[in-house]
Amino acid sequence: MFDFIADIRKDYILKTLSESDAEDNPIAQFEKWWKEAVHSEIIEPNAMTLATASSDGLPAARIVLLKGFDQKGFLFYTNYNSFKGQQLAENPRACLVFFWKEIERQVRITGIVSKVNPASSDEYFHSRPSLSRFGAVASPQSQVIESREWLELRVEKLTEDLGSEDPKRPEHWGGYIVRPVTIEFWQGRSNRLHDRLQYSLEEGGGWKIERLAP
Ligand SMILES: Cc1cc2nc3c(=O)[nH]c(=O)nc-3n(C[C@H](O)[C@H](O)[C@H](O)COP(=O)(O)O)c2cc1C
Repeated sequence: MFDFIADIRKDYILKTLSESDAEDNPIAQFEKWWKEAVHSEIIEPNAMTLATASSDGLPAARIVLLKGFDQKGFLFYTNYNSFKGQQLAENPRACLVFFWKEIERQVRITGIVSKVNPASSDEYFHSRPSLSRFGAVASPQSQVIESREWLELRVEKLTEDLGSEDPKRPEHWGGYIVRPVTIEFWQGRSNRLHDRLQYSLEEGGGWKIERLAP
């Protein structure tokens, strides 16, 4: 039965990544790949794996959505009291991984995480559709709850209590920014000889580019 799994393999042939094509700055390089991902009809190209770890080294990973990026870093929103929020409070470092299989690419970012300022979280929170705002307020993300009904009743009660008022952003819900320390761009190539270029932040603020073995 498991033989079949071992037989699933794919040769990557679509693109290449060379030092001469790569931008000097990794955010500029990310922007280039991001635009290609968006134009490649990938469903949710902004879905990324976020890996965190407790201070005792226990890792955890889950998907979150990228909500913006610039020279300061990569932005996502979540519940600060969630399991990931607890891990980030203990150990404010994270790894993000994008897998854009339609263009045979992976991007891995490691960095230092901090909360964005409350005004930016407010702005994003209020730009969300009303039902997802109610959901964010009502859901104690990552806690054990007794049933689906319990959650639905909480949303219902909140909606009734607020009437036509808009729910406010709870203090425990907001953005995190991952300030990159390394960014690796991985391009699938034929016969497992993939291209991997890694940018590492240097003391002066510049970026070193190195090729890694696939
Ligand atoms: C496609 C996709 C997008 C998601 N986006 C988010 C997100 O942006 N923020 C978030 O808190 N959870 C998001 N989730 C849910 C998380 O994967 C996870 O279940 C939740 O954040 C709780 O994680 P934790 O218990 O490790 O803190 C998303 C899940 C999927 C599958």
